[in-house]
Amino acid sequence: MSEWLECLACRTRFDTTESRHECDCGGLLNVARDRIEGSPAVFDARLSSRAALDRSGVWRFREAVMNIPLERIVTHPEGSTRLYERLGVFFKHEGENPTGSFKDRGMTVAMTQAVRVGSRAVACASTGNTSASLAAYASQAGLRAVVFIPAGKVAAGKLAQTLAYGATCLEVRGDFDAAMALVREAASALGIYLVNSINPFRLEGQKTIVWELLQDLEWNPPDWIVLPAGNLGNTSAFGKALREAHEAGWIARVPRLAAIQAAGANPFYRSFREAFASRHKVSAETIASAIRIGDPVSHERAVRAIQYTNGIVEQVTDEELMSAKREIDAAGIGCEPASATTWAGVKKLRAAGVIRDGETIACVLTGSILKDPDAILASAAGRRIEIDATLAAVERALG
Ligand code: F0G
Repeated sequence: MSEWLECLACRTRFDTTESRHECDCGGLLNVARDRIEGSPAVFDARLSSRAALDRSGVWRFREAVMNIPLERIVTHPEGSTRLYERLGVFFKHEGENPTGSFKDRGMTVAMTQAVRVGSRAVACASTGNTSASLAAYASQAGLRAVVFIPAGKVAAGKLAQTLAYGATCLEVRGDFDAAMALVREAASALGIYLVNSINPFRLEGQKTIVWELLQDLEWNPPDWIVLPAGNLGNTSAFGKALREAHEAGWIARVPRLAAIQAAGANPFYRSFREAFASRHKVSAETIASAIRIGDPVSHERAVRAIQYTNGIVEQVTDEELMSAKREIDAAGIGCEPASATTWAGVKKLRAAGVIRDGETIACVLTGSILKDPDAILASAAGRRIEIDATLAAVERALG
């Protein structure tokens, strides 16, 4: 099997051993293959193995992720997250990854590639989860980690993790989109390997969220896969995963994608409403800081994903997503605010009759409940009652 990088805009091909994350024409790159190897039977057999690569929910699907000698893979292992059935839908909890978000699935592949191309330092711009993941995998690989984050805009759990794993944090005065533009410039100028989801190897790893979900469901696809949409890497990866699974014959039909944005950070939604006639940029503001993104880098790839899956893009307000978060938390699994856009989106799409009764739905919860403690503490103040250390005080407090 051969594997190469191909520009989405001008179709130029590059060798996978080249250290590049975009085409010379500025177009996005895709990892392409002459054929998709692997099969549900092979992937299912690995579920009973004890080998780290088989236990990884990314490398279990390795034939269709990356062509590389197995001993060169940088893995925690990651993935193998649980699928919960709650509130009448499935929740695939990607917050159960090693650093608490789905980013680890892309990072294991991107970091393996960073080592393959001989990088000494890796960088990303981030709203916090990518930076935590990058920092963890870079320390494992022995590479210097530099992250560009919007100053004062990253949730406490994510910033603490990123620092703990040893990354240098450049806190940029500006928003995520400014940090993203800066890291692209800095990576080129300083020869640092960029591992944002603009990097096509990230998407190869993130495809396995969908494949593992399909495997959890014994390769019977749900009607809908619902996910939060920010920088649009995951939306793009999901589209590619579904296309490849269908073309390889792993699934008989393609589920529809529903990508959900926060109403205050909705450039992709605006574009969808115009049948993708134009690309939008907004000045983003939402409580879901993970997806506070106004100019998503993977726009073109994500458009293809929505079109290929006959998908849709919806938006939800901060009130709707925080109310959905409280329901997911109360169901005993919990998630960070951005992840709750999924459940909020399902409720909205059902009310509008887009999702119909009886359809099966899988929501992808992208980040752990512990990532954003401030969002919880701000909304649950009423249940914190300070008392004297007496039984009488307990009785009074409990009414
Ligand atoms: N959910 C969470 C928890 C995220 O951290 C992100 C993105 C998304 C959803 C959106 O995914 O960007 O692929 O559309 N976080 C990035 C970061 C931007 O830097 O951690 P997307």
